[in-house]
Amino acid sequence: MAKKKTTVGTINTETLAFTAGRDVELDQALVEVDCIGTAAHVAMLSKMPVKPALITATERQQVVEGLVEIINLARQGKFNIKLADQDVHLAVERALTKKLGDLGKKIHTCRSRNDQVAVDLRLYAKEQILHTLEEAAELAAALAAFGKKHEKVPMVGRTHMQPGMPSSVGLWATAHAESLLDDCVGLLNAYEMNDQCPLGSAASYGVPLPIDRQLVSDLLGFAYPTHNVLYANNGRGKMESIVLGAMAQAMLTLSRLAQDFMLFTMPEFDYFQLPAEFCTGSSIMPQKQNPDVCELVRAKASRVKAAELGIYDLVKGSPTGYNRDLQEAKELFMEGIATTRACLRILAPMVKATQVNRQKLIDGFSPDVFATDRALELVGEGMPFRDAYHHVKENLQEMESIDPAEAIRLKTHLGAPMGLDWDYFKFRTQAVRQVIREERKTFNKAVSKLLGVKYPLQNRS
Ligand code: ARG
Repeated sequence: MAKKKTTVGTINTETLAFTAGRDVELDQALVEVDCIGTAAHVAMLSKMPVKPALITATERQQVVEGLVEIINLARQGKFNIKLADQDVHLAVERALTKKLGDLGKKIHTCRSRNDQVAVDLRLYAKEQILHTLEEAAELAAALAAFGKKHEKVPMVGRTHMQPGMPSSVGLWATAHAESLLDDCVGLLNAYEMNDQCPLGSAASYGVPLPIDRQLVSDLLGFAYPTHNVLYANNGRGKMESIVLGAMAQAMLTLSRLAQDFMLFTMPEFDYFQLPAEFCTGSSIMPQKQNPDVCELVRAKASRVKAAELGIYDLVKGSPTGYNRDLQEAKELFMEGIATTRACLRILAPMVKATQVNRQKLIDGFSPDVFATDRALELVGEGMPFRDAYHHVKENLQEMESIDPAEAIRLKTHLGAPMGLDWDYFKFRTQAVRQVIREERKTFNKAVSKLLGVKYPLQNRS
């Protein structure tokens, strides 16, 4: 059987291709964070109190310059990860060794690909969660604005899908906005749990040299280092499933929003009209305007949850310590995040451009929708509620249509159709955006200092 020489020994060609799997492509997304992690590791090695120094300050500078070069190449789509590299970690070592000779061979001192990939994925997750939060805040703001614009437009409130009580378009839209803002809390929790630096745990069991894990964590702008070095690696997979769990909750909100849109844009309802540019036609039925975007969002919610469960399933039977199984989590993780983000991004402009058909919404009110309001009116006249309930139930045919706009005007308490606090939605959205700004600032400042160049680098192609 054919064999191939790699940085870590000769490997059978078939085995190499099988074990590298999709890493050669997927790790392209990790080149930048891998270089940043290596810059911090090398900076720490150069400061290690041992004689002779493992890496001198000048050598550290050379490595950092080499890493910046690789980041620039990657941003132009020109950094190559070869099959013989197996993954990004050895590709970066190969490139540095080609440029710097023996110095390149020193960068892996006191670390393993296991803590390297763990730190890469955490840095990747940090950036991706911030993007997701930004996109979720945008959609939440769009839903709140939609709600505010149509605050006074009556809408039948339903339970069991059957007409229930008078409600409003404002209440409907902001229910989804508030759900999404809660999903942001979930994402922020995941962000916080993820914001710990596993680097320096090496293969899981520490190293017999005085590495400074706190320093590495600070250099990378993490909140703090993970503590137990074995857990640093056992946390891989667990962390990804927590992040995707938070994403799946956001997808749950989006799926229900999409489902409502599909229902309420049916000709039988015609409450809303989706913008034509977010619908597609049929190859046979010329009249069709289908809500494919909404259908796909609903389907993708299942996929994101499946990705979360896929990772959970990979790790649940995984014995302590690194196991190659973990590599399989990478694809699910990246795909789950990308899917969530794509759904958030497509829905925000769609919500903004959705039309509301006020007359159809009012036409949807049959007299029975006011039954509970009528019973409560009788309560106001002194009748015990249960008696009022039975009185109305027995005389339903006598119910008269009331002006639905008037009916919702009376619902003024906290969170009711006319008690919606628009500042509440604004403040919560702003709070999310504020965290994003602060976190980006902390990270960019740390990395700019570490690389000695303004970060993020400006040349992404
Ligand atoms: N590509 C590998 C992964 O994603 C990197 C770690 C490999 N470690 C090892 N001991 N073979 O898991």
